[in-house]
Amino acid sequence: MDTQKITTGTLLEMKKKNEKITMLTAYDYLMASQLDECGIDIILVGDSVGNVVLGYKNTIPVTMDEMLHHCSAVARGVKRAMVVGDMPFMSYQASVEEAVRNAGRFLKESKVEAVKLEGGDEVLNTVKKIVDSGIPVMGHLGLTPQSLHKFGGYGVRGEGEEEAHKILNDAKKLEKAGAFSIVLEKVPAALAQKITSEINIPTIGIGAGVDCDGQVLVTHDMLGLFEKFKPKFAKRYGQLGKEMKKCYGEYIKEVKSKKFPLKEHSY
Ligand code: KIV
Repeated sequence: MDTQKITTGTLLEMKKKNEKITMLTAYDYLMASQLDECGIDIILVGDSVGNVVLGYKNTIPVTMDEMLHHCSAVARGVKRAMVVGDMPFMSYQASVEEAVRNAGRFLKESKVEAVKLEGGDEVLNTVKKIVDSGIPVMGHLGLTPQSLHKFGGYGVRGEGEEEAHKILNDAKKLEKAGAFSIVLEKVPAALAQKITSEINIPTIGIGAGVDCDGQVLVTHDMLGLFEKFKPKFAKRYGQLGKEMKKCYGEYIKEVKSKKFPLKEHSY
């Protein structure tokens, strides 16, 4: 495996060479160091931490302090991958100044290398100002979970001609504003393919078909660790939730029946 640090430049090169980009989420040191060891290109400390780690119903309650705490843990575990911190709801919407300051906190306090924020037209000025401050920005279009109540659910975005056109235009504008890549979530594969071919920065798809420049999944979903939620796009590569519960069950049984600890575990 190439041990060269992944930068925004590396990702642009990968798009040019048609080499797929891999991205997964992590929220702690252990998982981040495992992903890094295995050669993942980008680790996203997603605000999905709210759903899969903190027990919130959605990503809306996630705070800056919670994000910075998890980003710091992840950054401590990573040598090669690029680490991206997800800006939580209301950390970048109220004003450009507040957005730039909060983006800066991700780099200064948590040592991540880039931030991600959701939206198109409505965040262009913010993206530009954050990039002008020297902070790489990853965009996020299509289904943007922080706008859950505006959309009224987690359905596919861009199925109609008008919305598809808006998403394509937003992608072009985000590129122009200086974003180094864009997550495309839950959009038709044909639309993702069109966007990918019409912009020069990498697209990272989640439920957006095979033609994106890269793919991202929530690690807890792909491990089968978070069993409550099974969206169509989240392929399970394991059943770790079941396996872990089996271990907990065995431990409880052995302690209750005095089968653990044995002499070999004792002093
Ligand atoms: O928060 C998150 O994990 C994300 C990915 C699903 C892209 O935004």
